[in-house]
Amino acid sequence: MVKKLGLIGHPLHHSFSKRYFNKKFEKNGIIGYEYDLYDIETIDHVRDVFSIPNLLGFNVTIPYKHAIQPYLDDLDFSARKVGAVNVVKLLPNGKKVGFNSDYYGFKTSLLHWIGNKKINNALVLGTGGASKAVLVALEDLKINASTVSRDKNKGAYTYVDLTQRKVIPDHQLIINTTPLGTHPKEGEAPDLPYEQLATKHFLYDLIYNPAETSFMKKGISAGAKVKNGYEMLVLQAEKSWEIWNT
Ligand SMILES: NC(=O)c1ccc[n+]([C@@H]2O[C@H](COP(=O)([O-])OP(=O)(O)OC[C@H]3O[C@@H](n4cnc5c(N)ncnc54)[C@H](OP(=O)(O)O)[C@@H]3O)[C@@H](O)[C@H]2O)c1
Repeated sequence: MVKKLGLIGHPLHHSFSKRYFNKKFEKNGIIGYEYDLYDIETIDHVRDVFSIPNLLGFNVTIPYKHAIQPYLDDLDFSARKVGAVNVVKLLPNGKKVGFNSDYYGFKTSLLHWIGNKKINNALVLGTGGASKAVLVALEDLKINASTVSRDKNKGAYTYVDLTQRKVIPDHQLIINTTPLGTHPKEGEAPDLPYEQLATKHFLYDLIYNPAETSFMKKGISAGAKVKNGYEMLVLQAEKSWEIWNT
């Protein structure tokens, strides 16, 4: 009997995960698994997903990373720390457990990139679900992090603060967790004083489409090092696979 995996969210037009897993199954000759999209209009419909025969688990995307939690029996350490779930596993005893593999994907990819380099301060642009996973990873790595929000009540800084004060020079690592610059709106970028960037800066964009965002291009122009979200995406997908199969 084919084991079922998938992704819940709404709307689900483009899915990296479905393409990724189907390619992985094909490339590695993995048989007996199927990865489907479950586009559910309200979270309550997750009950229908849970009743799919041979369901091993699924990924969770916008807007259900928080809303899924009351439907689960337990949260693993990662999901509890981040406060969001992007992987659900069904145990053989029927219990449903939530995990957060975005946290793992970000932390591992950041370490691959910066190596042993000591970074003291980071700026995290945006205060949504991905921002929370990034903040927990930075805390683990003992990097002081400050958030930037459009709303002065949600972040340590607003974008206006960044232009009025010399914040950028004091933060060597800047992480974009906003959707600004995502295909097809590739001309957009977070509203930063980019002229304050220097060669010491590391700009990490969680966006993976396009591969080089406007945010990254502005970093490259200033001689900064840049990275997109593709490796994080692959690492979080592989972590999901590991969770479902252990
Ligand atoms: N590479 C990966 O593996 C990976 C994993 C997860 C997410 N992502 C990407 O990360 C991005 C964010 O995902 P998410 O789940 O955190 O989304 P989200 O919960 O909607 O949060 C995005 C945050 O960005 C800020 N924002 C939204 N629209 C903005 C705008 N027009 N101008 C400035 N700031 C804006 C908001 O913060 P404020 O209201 O505080 O300004 C918002 O909370 C998406 O592009 C997603 O594709 C990538």
